Amino acid sequence: MALNVVIMAAGKGTRMKSALPKVLHRLAGRSLVQHVLDAASPLKALRTVVITGHGADAVEGALGASGAVFARQMPQLGTGHAVQQAVPALDKTADTTVVLNGDVPLIRTSTAASLAAACGGVHLALLTIELADPTGYGRIVRGPAGQVLGIVEHKDASDAQRDIREIYTGILAAPTQALVRWVAALKNDNVQKEYYLTDIVAMAVAEGVKVVAAQPASDTEVLGVNSPVQLADLERRYQHERAEALMEAGVRLADPARLDVRGELLCGADVEIDVNCVFEGCVTLADGVRIGANCVIRNAQIAAGAVIHPFTHIDGEAAGVKVGPGALVGPFARLRPGADLGAEVHIGNFVEVKNSTLAAGAKANHLAYLGDADVGERVNYGAGSITANYDGANKHRTLIGADAHIGSNCVLVAPVTIGSGATIGGGSTIAKDAPANQLTLARARQVSLPGWTRPKKSPPKG
Ligand code: UD1
Ligand code: MG
Repeated sequence: MALNVVIMAAGKGTRMKSALPKVLHRLAGRSLVQHVLDAASPLKALRTVVITGHGADAVEGALGASGAVFARQMPQLGTGHAVQQAVPALDKTADTTVVLNGDVPLIRTSTAASLAAACGGVHLALLTIELADPTGYGRIVRGPAGQVLGIVEHKDASDAQRDIREIYTGILAAPTQALVRWVAALKNDNVQKEYYLTDIVAMAVAEGVKVVAAQPASDTEVLGVNSPVQLADLERRYQHERAEALMEAGVRLADPARLDVRGELLCGADVEIDVNCVFEGCVTLADGVRIGANCVIRNAQIAAGAVIHPFTHIDGEAAGVKVGPGALVGPFARLRPGADLGAEVHIGNFVEVKNSTLAAGAKANHLAYLGDADVGERVNYGAGSITANYDGANKHRTLIGADAHIGSNCVLVAPVTIGSGATIGGGSTIAKDAPANQLTLARARQVSLPGWTRPKKSPPKG
């Protein structure tokens, strides 16, 4: 079946009380409208049209790479008027057009696909649900045989119609050619003086086009975001679903209510995640990985058996971070882009690693910085030591051979090479290469002055 997808995103979102257009507010790290685009993407629409209005420049800028085309709606005269603006951009050869809402982010691909299938290019298919409190929504009016006759907006509804609990979710699929004809014929003779897309239902009925109603798998799919409270509610529902899916795959979460996944989290067997962890971008946790409480991890691959202790921040940005098998990281460690830790590497508290490789068994356990360094196997990198990798204009690398021992509080001024098996005395500033297997010191010699006495306090004058 060939499809168009129309996403309505022109509304203001007054109740968000924000300068940011409503559909650009984020849920699980992605904008609301991006969620809708991502859900629609597997439908492989010939055309995806996003209707923009309020904050159009920002919305179009944010979605520039999505492949969607934009139709501007200024001013906003209702949902029917919105679809009118999309008509010129529709692919008229696509027999079915699916209308989605930019502020209803958790619609599932499967639901949109079944709605499109229910339309099949011939019927008008509405996504509806029953609500205990339908206040504010368009009601589904059915005839004696249960056939759909129309949608009446809350403000236009009679008292009897307001008792109807089946509501229109704002999502439909229509035969493209008929949709084009119907929206062209809309009038705004209603309480709100708007062009209601929902009026096409009565037009379809009048033409003898069958109107079918389908329901989503879960109510969460059709909840809209109008306020920060609703946004937070949807975020929790979404995170709950993610947590359930992880646990069903065998991941042990200390508390599913205290996990946030804002991207892709791939887990092997026997992964354990303690409370208050945030995963962003693409994170892979291999078999047996344990993540301590309060870690924030973005764009990283953690190999089997590695342990990330509490309060560790890992941000791979674009370059990524790799943590090798059996490595121990944290507590309070920071791994930045290009940190590549080999097997059994230990990174302890207040250690920062950026754009550096550490070979198997290397250790930096306390208060240290490794930037632009290549560290050999089993190196011991002392507390308080840093690589001075930046000369104010350029970055340079530090090479540390296998089995070297860097004492505490050393400054390795790059570019510099420490030979394998070398020992660097604590407190040294090393600006020249240090040979293998020797002790290198670069600090003032310690002196003690015999006969020296402390100054005494002078008696007060006067
Ligand atoms: C609409 C439906 C109502 C349904 C409800 C579900 C109509 C007439 N009514 O009502 O039956 O129960 O959604 O939430 O369609 N938008 C534009 N341009 C406009 C107006 C709206 O792009 O001129 C966009 C909004 O940004 C939003 C969507 O369309 O994403 C729905 O608009 P909204 O004002 O929320 O419609 P409702 O009055 O709630
Ligand atoms: Mg609404």
